[in-house]
Amino acid sequence: MTTLLALGFSPRKNGNSDLLLKAFIDGAKEAGAEVETVYPRRIKIHACLECGGCDEAGVCVLQDGMEALYPSLIEAERVVVASPVFFFGVPSQAKALVDRCQALWSRTRLFPELKKPRGRGFFIGVGGSKGKNVFTGTDLCVQYFFDAIGLPKGMGQLVYSRVEAKGSIREHPTALAEAREAGRLFMN
Ligand SMILES: Cc1cc2nc3c(=O)[nH]c(=O)nc-3n(C[C@H](O)[C@H](O)[C@H](O)COP(=O)(O)O)c2cc1C
Repeated sequence: MTTLLALGFSPRKNGNSDLLLKAFIDGAKEAGAEVETVYPRRIKIHACLECGGCDEAGVCVLQDGMEALYPSLIEAERVVVASPVFFFGVPSQAKALVDRCQALWSRTRLFPELKKPRGRGFFIGVGGSKGKNVFTGTDLCVQYFFDAIGLPKGMGQLVYSRVEAKGSIREHPTALAEAREAGRLFMN
């Protein structure tokens, strides 16, 4: 059975990206997936200090909630990120998680033999505005996060703009059904 690592990047519990992530997970479970769900908002994650510690051994020298998460990030063959757009990026708690994956980037630079081609990623995005570049920054951040943890940069995605009030994604005519179907297909 393939495990899905589901990452909910919003600081807002039960907000729009959480609801989309839950629908995606429901679909993945329908396809037989086991799911590990991680919300950076619930974990103590210190910001990357760019101290250079991971340049030496490919391991982060900071000791916090990331220690328990690194093995899943290295092993997961299916990873979904659900994130709101915050100033064209990802929320700061989630950005700390992403930045701390510099250690994994260093690891495969130091030990290329550890880089095994595996799996794929999926990005679910929500933003409040309607501009055409709403998702550009967040999309790039998530792509390079996938790259750092050893997944291909090319990723499936579902994005919804003009969604702002908490839970208002429920009023979208198709979003939750699309997320559920995407989750089901992602595990095949
Ligand atoms: C600090 C902050 C920054 C935001 N920046 C953007 C932005 O740059 N572009 C945008 O379209 N929406 C922006 N939004 C709106 C959120 O992306 C939107 O409300 C989204 O639906 C929140 O999803 P959530 O309920 O999963 O947290 C911002 C919201 C906050 C609180």
